[in-house]
Amino acid sequence: MISKIARHAAFAFLLTFQFAVQAQNNIKEPLTIEDKIKALLQKMTLEEKIGQMNQYNGFWEITGPAPAEGDAKKKYDHLRKGLVGAVLNVKGTTNVRKLQEIAVKETRLGIPLLFGYDVVHGHKTLFPIPLGEAASWDLESIERSARIAAIEASAAGINWTFAPMVDISRDARWGRVMEGAGEDTYLGTKIGIARIKGFQGDDLAANNTIAATAKHFAGYGFAEAGRDYNTVDVGTSTLYNIILPPFKAAVDAGVLTVMNSFNILNGIPATANRFLQRDILKDKWDFKGFVVSDWGSGLEMIDHGFAKDLKQVAELSANAGSDMDMESYAYVAYLKEMVETGKVDIKTVDDAVKRILRVKFKLGLFDDPYKYCDAAREKELIYNPAHAVAALDVAKKSIVLLKNTPVKINGRPLLPLNKKQQKIAVIGALADDKNSPLGSWRIGSDDNTAVSVMEGLKKYTSAITYAKGADLVIGKTDFINEVKINETDTSGFKAAVQLARNSDVIIMVLGEHGFQSGEGRSRTKLGLPGVQQQLLEAVYAVNKNLVLVLMNGRPLTINWAQENIPAIVETWQLGSQTGNAIAEVLFGDHNPSGKLPMTFPRSVGQVPIYYNYYSTGRPGPKPEVFWSHYTDESNKPLYPFGFGLSYTSFAYSDLRINSSNPAKITVTVTVKNTGSLEGTEVSQLYIRDKIASVVRPVKELKGFSRFSLKAGESRSIEFVLTPAELGFYDNNGNFITEPGDFDIMVGTNSEEGLKGSFMLK
Ligand code: BGC
Repeated sequence: MISKIARHAAFAFLLTFQFAVQAQNNIKEPLTIEDKIKALLQKMTLEEKIGQMNQYNGFWEITGPAPAEGDAKKKYDHLRKGLVGAVLNVKGTTNVRKLQEIAVKETRLGIPLLFGYDVVHGHKTLFPIPLGEAASWDLESIERSARIAAIEASAAGINWTFAPMVDISRDARWGRVMEGAGEDTYLGTKIGIARIKGFQGDDLAANNTIAATAKHFAGYGFAEAGRDYNTVDVGTSTLYNIILPPFKAAVDAGVLTVMNSFNILNGIPATANRFLQRDILKDKWDFKGFVVSDWGSGLEMIDHGFAKDLKQVAELSANAGSDMDMESYAYVAYLKEMVETGKVDIKTVDDAVKRILRVKFKLGLFDDPYKYCDAAREKELIYNPAHAVAALDVAKKSIVLLKNTPVKINGRPLLPLNKKQQKIAVIGALADDKNSPLGSWRIGSDDNTAVSVMEGLKKYTSAITYAKGADLVIGKTDFINEVKINETDTSGFKAAVQLARNSDVIIMVLGEHGFQSGEGRSRTKLGLPGVQQQLLEAVYAVNKNLVLVLMNGRPLTINWAQENIPAIVETWQLGSQTGNAIAEVLFGDHNPSGKLPMTFPRSVGQVPIYYNYYSTGRPGPKPEVFWSHYTDESNKPLYPFGFGLSYTSFAYSDLRINSSNPAKITVTVTVKNTGSLEGTEVSQLYIRDKIASVVRPVKELKGFSRFSLKAGESRSIEFVLTPAELGFYDNNGNFITEPGDFDIMVGTNSEEGLKGSFMLK
């Protein structure tokens, strides 16, 4: 009864306010979102305001009775008092409805909750891990994956995803490289925008679009030595030119929320970083959405040695512009006191609350708080067959052919495989795995739902025999616990080697387990984990017709394989349709076109290694020793950024540059398919600003074009360079363009292409 009265009171209040404003202005126009926010804010107590700034992790056993004691009880009590603005990790229409009903019907003002979730590469239907999908360089497909992820997630009650991660990273040791778009700011920016568009769609108020989050603001991808959560120490130029642009683009694309990060930047934790959250994000970029903290990142400031207790956490975070506290419990406990003692201005709280309410209004939650809670829709859309079709399409496009020497078996090339009978041996634990190919960060989905490589291949041929060779992991794996790798047991080698001897072709599926990358999964070694390298060499010793299919969540140092194995296919972790996608590529029904979004090092000692490095004053090579190099390894990567082969070949010719209009420089090139199969190429344009007031990298990607060509066909490809591509940020964060000489290169990867130059007037 009380709840009904309260709800009616809240609605009555909003209506009265609406009429009052209209009467005053003597117009009939409906209230804007900003009017509604203002009206609601006036009605809120300080506690209720702070409640909006509080986000709790999922309440256990939501559909059961509310517990009588413990943490969950406290959360329920808080929810009923209007002290919770958002939750995370609650999914399913029943669960979401239950909590939303409490917020809407039992709290005084009935403000609906936001339901956040890490919908990272699909919700139930899983797409390739983001790093893998970035290898497609196909913005339309990437947008579609995010769109479908939003459709499924929203059908399961979720209205806010903590994605995309737009952190640039150059360090393959960092496990979270799997979650981003790789090392390059230009590509990463385009992909970030595509993902945001996919999640948020054209109409935020629709029931199948969700709020996106650009994360982690900022610098998290530069954790020292690739160790997750570690110190970040980056220079100003790297911050402005490499780290921040994808976030700025996300804001310009209308991203509704930004998540801060665990790391420090110049000694200030991101959560308490005014420079990042206020000066740059909210003031300079005019971001109107809200900042959510990362999980407990406020609390962690005590361990950082920045805040002495939770009280100070509340003060420092709020003042610095961290609007919503995820799981630090600082605001709910102490923000009121901080306001009352004058440590935090009420205007600061009001600003944060307005931002949070704005997102709720934009999503249409005040019009219908249950819009994402339609059980029939959930049933229809989760694992919808059309989603599997899209997942297969982008999975194929994400595969990168790393090596394909033209060895012949029975007069035919090794790859693509001959569909006619030949005895195929499939070796490796990952080949028969339905879980690992789903990758990390798929907490909303179901385990063991990937089409395995074996299942995919069997659709093509029955002449196929499997031997595991060796276990990759020991025991169970999950998102929370450390994965244990089999480092010793080689007892299965014998059977695998025997099978290899008696087969025409071997497909070995090796790499990392899906839970070896992701959050908290840093590695110091980048080779094939466990006994896999040994297994590879043992099998190769008896049969050289070997195709190595890699499955991994980060670049690997597979130097031996590159030197010896005739064909290598990088498949990342491709999600639900893994086996089908790999089979289509191996049997040639799909011609691979993926290009690496991250450099593959030759050695861990080279890391961080990236294509857009600076020349240094001693670039070399020189005969004597005093130049910037290693004495025991080349400076070159194993595979450069942008690298990827095809079953056909492409030739570049006729580079033309028209620089007469400095506002629009055009670069054209002719690309010809010189092979015998239709194929897709991703042409890449790189620039070098030769002399600048802040030193520029030796190469920077500034354009790319993905297109298909029939055998023998050629096409002229045009790129346009405007000041946006030719300029850079100075050390004060101003974007400038400087006249002068530029080199350019257009080609098939970051190391091979036609070269030219022009002068920018
Ligand atoms: C991660 C975030 C994630 C959050 C909520 C944190 O540990 O760093 O990326 O969104 O948890 O699950």
